[in-house]
Amino acid sequence: MGFPATRLRRLRRTGTLRSMVRETRLAPADFIAPLFVRHGEGVREPIPSLAGQHHLSVDMLVEEARELHGLGVPAVILFGLPDEKDEAALEAYAEDGIVQRALRALRAELPGLTLITDVCLCQYTSHGHCGVLRDGAVDNDITLELLSQTAVSHALAGADVVAPSDMMDGRVAAIRSALDDEGLTDTAIMAYSAKFASAFYGPFRDAAHSTPSEGDRRGYQMDPANLREALREVELDVAEGADVVMVKPAMPYLDVIRRVRDRTDLPIAAYQVSGEYAMLEAAVAAGLLERREAALEALTSIKRAGADLIITYHASRAAKWLS
Ligand code: PBG
Repeated sequence: MGFPATRLRRLRRTGTLRSMVRETRLAPADFIAPLFVRHGEGVREPIPSLAGQHHLSVDMLVEEARELHGLGVPAVILFGLPDEKDEAALEAYAEDGIVQRALRALRAELPGLTLITDVCLCQYTSHGHCGVLRDGAVDNDITLELLSQTAVSHALAGADVVAPSDMMDGRVAAIRSALDDEGLTDTAIMAYSAKFASAFYGPFRDAAHSTPSEGDRRGYQMDPANLREALREVELDVAEGADVVMVKPAMPYLDVIRRVRDRTDLPIAAYQVSGEYAMLEAAVAAGLLERREAALEALTSIKRAGADLIITYHASRAAKWLS
């Protein structure tokens, strides 16, 4: 039956009707907030490339996480800024590394908050690559060993979920077996499965001091043009024991999120990355976009595409808007 009997505008007439037939609803419970932790005390230093985000010392991190939790955001994902960088990324898996310290403090102060850690070496290596370099290239299999040590040290310090973002082959299986060998069978793995070599990570590399000093990440992160390969990455991570799979970035890859949703029954996380956030904030600052409307629309599109969880720098603001 078509027009004039059918008129789709009928259900758009009032706010109540629109709300009653809304297919996708955002809630603070959908969000995971990325937080950057550094050494020191009383530090809350604005990150220039990410307006509204900060480098936090552990004490200030606890306060920020407390506020997020109070707003109904169930989880944070931690990124560490070490004091020292070296070839072997020593602080990534040190017992008193910055992320390990942060985890112990958060675990003690906020027992109900879910703690996720980014597992990667790029913030910790002197050259800024996500793994160990051998003959100028990242060596996959040596890197697996260090990633596994890092994941185990995070879990021992209190992480509920470890999230490998390095894109080495076989890392989910390696981390799962390392965790299980330590009796850490309850620690979940959220795999950055389809992680693309994206220009939209630019502001993050500034925030995490992790720009490679030479070369780029295209030898391990995915080619932005490839959808079928993304599905293979997801399939492998599921087979290796991932508990949650991730697509990253989010908005330029909504088709990938949708295809993954149609293929797997695992929960899907999507990472609305630094460049997506910075782009919106820049447009807001220039008076070109209305922040609240634009941010909620972007987040809704990511959920509509099929994501269950959204890692977003808008987490705190969006949680306030939605409460
Ligand atoms: C570490 C990592 C990166 C991001 C998350 N984990 C940077 C990269 O791979 O270059 C990007 C997050 C963002 O842009 O917000 N490997």
